[in-house]
Amino acid sequence: MYKTVEHTLFIGKNVVFVPECSSTNDLANKLAQSSKGEGTVVITNRQTAGRGQRGNSWQAAPEQNLTFSIIIRPIFLAIKDQFFLTVITALGVHDYLKNKALEKVQIKWPNDILVNDRKICGILLENQVQGTLITTSIIGIGLNILQEDFGVLNATSLKKETGSIFSLPDELSQLLSFIESRYLQLRQGKCSDLLQDYLQVLYRRNQLATYRSNDALFTGVITGVDEIGKLQIKIEEEVRTFDLKDIQYV
Ligand code: BTN
Repeated sequence: MYKTVEHTLFIGKNVVFVPECSSTNDLANKLAQSSKGEGTVVITNRQTAGRGQRGNSWQAAPEQNLTFSIIIRPIFLAIKDQFFLTVITALGVHDYLKNKALEKVQIKWPNDILVNDRKICGILLENQVQGTLITTSIIGIGLNILQEDFGVLNATSLKKETGSIFSLPDELSQLLSFIESRYLQLRQGKCSDLLQDYLQVLYRRNQLATYRSNDALFTGVITGVDEIGKLQIKIEEEVRTFDLKDIQYV
C-alpha cells in the first residue's frame, strides 16, 4: 500500500509499514538504534497507544488518517537550535496544506497545524543527543485526512475542509516532499528565512487574546519566539516568554 517515495532525495526512500503498533514514534526509536541512515518512515494504520504533546494521547480513527514517524539525523544542528526541527516540520505540513488551496492555514505555537482555526495535524518530536549535538530525531506526525467525526474536539481533516476524497499513500508522498524541502533549507543554514516564514503564519501573532498561566487569565499579544523557541507575549508593556507547559490558549 505505501511505496517508496519518488520525488525526494532521502525521506521516504525506505518506508516501513505495520498494520498496527503502539506508537510509530516508539517503533521508529527502536529502528533508529539498529540502522544508520536517515529518512526512514514508519507508518501504521492504527496506533494503540499514540502519544501527543504534554503527555496526552493521540486518537485517530484507524485507516482514515496519516500516523507516521520520520527518522532523521540532524548531526549538523546544535541542541540549542533544536527548535528549528519544530519549525521545518510545521512549515512542511503548512506548505503541503497550502498546496491544497486551503485558505487559512496557521501554525499554533509550537507545532499544531490549524485550518480555519481547527486542528488538523499534531507533531511530536523526540530527539536523541550526544554532547551538544542531536544525533537522531524522530518526527512523529498525525495528520487528519478522511476522518469526519471528532466528537467534542475542535479538530478537522482534509476531507472536511475540501469535501474531497484522498488516497493516504499519495498524500504521504506529497507531504514528505514538502517536509524534505524545509529540512534541506535547514541543512543549508537558512535559519533566518525559516524563522521569518514560521512567524508569518503563526496563529494569533500581533492579536490581542486571552491566555492562562499558573491558573491566572491574562490578555496579551504574541510577538514571536525567542532564540530557543519559547513563546513571547507582550503583556501591557512587558514581553514575557513561556514554555509549552506554562501556557494555555483560552
Ligand atoms: C500532539 O499532541 O498534537 C502531537 C500528536 C502527535 C501524533 C503522532 S501520530 C504518529 C506519531 N506517533 C505517536 O505516538 N505520536 C505521533
